[in-house]
Amino acid sequence: MDYHHVSILFMLLSCIASCAFGATNIFNVLSYGAVGNGRADDSQAFLKAWNAACQGQAKSGVIPVVYAPAKKTFLLDPLTFKGPCKSPRIYMLVSGNMVAPVKSAWSGKQVEGWIIFTSVNGLVIKGKGVFDGKGDSWWPSRPCYNDPARGVLCKGPAVSSHMVIMSTNDVVVTNLVIIAPGDSPNTDAIDISGSTKVQIRNSFIATGDDCIAITAGSSNIDISGITCGPGHGISIGSLGGGGFDVVENVRVRNCTLKNTITGVRIKSVQGGTGYARNISFQGIKFEAVDNPIEIEQFYCPLKQNCKNDTSGVAISDVTFSAISGTSIAENVISLKCSQINACKNIRLDRVYIKSTTPNKKVSAACFNAHGIATHTKPAVKCLLP
Ligand SMILES: *[C@@H]1O[C@H](CO)[C@@H](O)[C@H](O)[C@H]1NC(C)=O
Ligand SMILES: *[C@@H]1O[C@H](CO)[C@@H](O)[C@H](O)[C@H]1NC(C)=O
Ligand SMILES: *[C@@H]1O[C@H](CO)[C@@H](O)[C@H](O)[C@H]1NC(C)=O
Repeated sequence: MDYHHVSILFMLLSCIASCAFGATNIFNVLSYGAVGNGRADDSQAFLKAWNAACQGQAKSGVIPVVYAPAKKTFLLDPLTFKGPCKSPRIYMLVSGNMVAPVKSAWSGKQVEGWIIFTSVNGLVIKGKGVFDGKGDSWWPSRPCYNDPARGVLCKGPAVSSHMVIMSTNDVVVTNLVIIAPGDSPNTDAIDISGSTKVQIRNSFIATGDDCIAITAGSSNIDISGITCGPGHGISIGSLGGGGFDVVENVRVRNCTLKNTITGVRIKSVQGGTGYARNISFQGIKFEAVDNPIEIEQFYCPLKQNCKNDTSGVAISDVTFSAISGTSIAENVISLKCSQINACKNIRLDRVYIKSTTPNKKVSAACFNAHGIATHTKPAVKCLLP
């Protein structure tokens, strides 16, 4: 994530959480006044249905379900669904289509995101419905600049992530499809920050920025079965821009990255403190990826005011294993670690990356990285064999 996100933009959602419905009490938005013709404003109906489900008397073993039926299109203003709810679990079953107002109709409304759930425990969002954030009405370019203390900042309203998981624990996301054009600006698909125990599984992501970005304050993150591309791959960071940044216990498994600008990477800016440790990337396939494997501690996206500092985030215990595929770059492995805190215990095992161009040589580069590389091509000379 290269900026401070302020907006959530869901586009196509089929299921959040592995969820089985037991005894339920259905709150159909049509019964609360929703029209579902794509033109009438259905916001109040959704809030009423939510409040009835959330604040209604909880019955033991019965789960309240807010239901948006199929074959309808619901026009929704930016909305916040607030908890805490009386029931320990609450479901939202989205079978129909949800559509956001275009940017020009958004003024004066909440800017933090389109659809926000806050202070809700036991939330499950499920269904084959589509969230259409009308992102293209936001994409015309915004001026961005590099703030030495805070990283990249952009002026004007920011549409950034499709889904933000922030300060939320025990999250399961499965079978999610997120689609945005490869050239849409600043459209991270899923941003995870300040959260612990997050699983993202079996999902398809095509977007213009990071498919998944894991930033400060995240731990016990388990990512598997993701197909990503176009996009910027799966990133940890950037770290170091916000005081003492910590990311730990991250596992990324069984993912395919196609035509992405970066593959799997850990990035931090110069300065800052904190650490990123116990991170593994296993069973990754690359198809025509630029910059497949990267640790970048000199991250400076706008290439302005890039200075070397006397502090840095410490990176240790990072494993890349059972990784194969092709790259359009010549330098396919790049481990550039801080001159203050060298990277420790970086392990590469069974990493085979070739060029997309037959017989073209590929190389690995590193700076201040320590660890072991076994069964790896190209050879990573700075690591022990
Ligand atoms: C790997 O991911 C694919 C989807 O990309 C999924 O169909 C498959 O079940 C996953 N396998 C394992 C072992 O996780
Ligand atoms: C490293 O992270 C994994 C989860 O990816 C966790 O199971 C393991 O306990 C962690 N190891 C340490 C030493 O914390
Ligand atoms: C910072 O240090 C790295 C490693 O020595 C070097 O490659 C880079 O050019 C330096 N950048 C500046 C702005 O001095």
